[in-house]
Amino acid sequence: MPDLSGKKVLITAGPTHEAIDPVRFIGNHSTGKMGIALAEEALKNGAQVTLVCGPSQVPSSNEISRVNVTSAQEMFDAVMEKQLGSNILILSAAVADYRPKNVAENKIKKKDTSLSIELEPTPDILASLGAIKKDSQVLVGFALETNDEEENAKSKLVRKNCDMIVLNSLQDAGAGFGHDTNKVSILDRHNNITTFELKSKADVAKDILRAIIDYK
Ligand code: C5P
Repeated sequence: MPDLSGKKVLITAGPTHEAIDPVRFIGNHSTGKMGIALAEEALKNGAQVTLVCGPSQVPSSNEISRVNVTSAQEMFDAVMEKQLGSNILILSAAVADYRPKNVAENKIKKKDTSLSIELEPTPDILASLGAIKKDSQVLVGFALETNDEEENAKSKLVRKNCDMIVLNSLQDAGAGFGHDTNKVSILDRHNNITTFELKSKADVAKDILRAIIDYK
């Protein structure tokens, strides 16, 4: 029997777009490839997969229940609705940390003076799930750090009450946004750290799911 048969897996993927006015947004370079590779791998392992995905051109199998969202707030709302009964939650989305406090109703006109946009924090989906996590659930977060990578990832694991953090390296060529390959380390609550080679995102997804299946 496949390892995840009978298990419900919820995955977030992609960027979020935070509206400035009707035609502009704040976003990031995430493509959704890593999260969608995880969803496909979980499906292959027999799981019932829900994918909450920000704006992404990457398709996913019909057997994956996909909820497309745009903003961090929409992603938060969809995850909170879908998380009930999930056994494994993997939050790989690159969620915007801030959004414009006020969204202009009409397109902002160009002027010769400088323009300031006040930002407010978005809801932290991972931390919110950590706060209500059940013992039976495995909660996995991602971290993208540019300095003191392991220390920051460890403190994120504790702060957001996760079981595992997948640390993405930005320092290796071929890893991260837009690439078909990635290089990760996996840290868990028992202070284990496993560092993997640069691999295709499909193979990285296999390593991550193997670590989740073997966890506890
Ligand atoms: O704190 P930081 O943004 O670096 O944490 C990254 C992790 O938290 C990722 O797993 C990301 O999906 C998740 N996150 C979230 N909601 C946010 C910000 C980050 O779920 N608003």
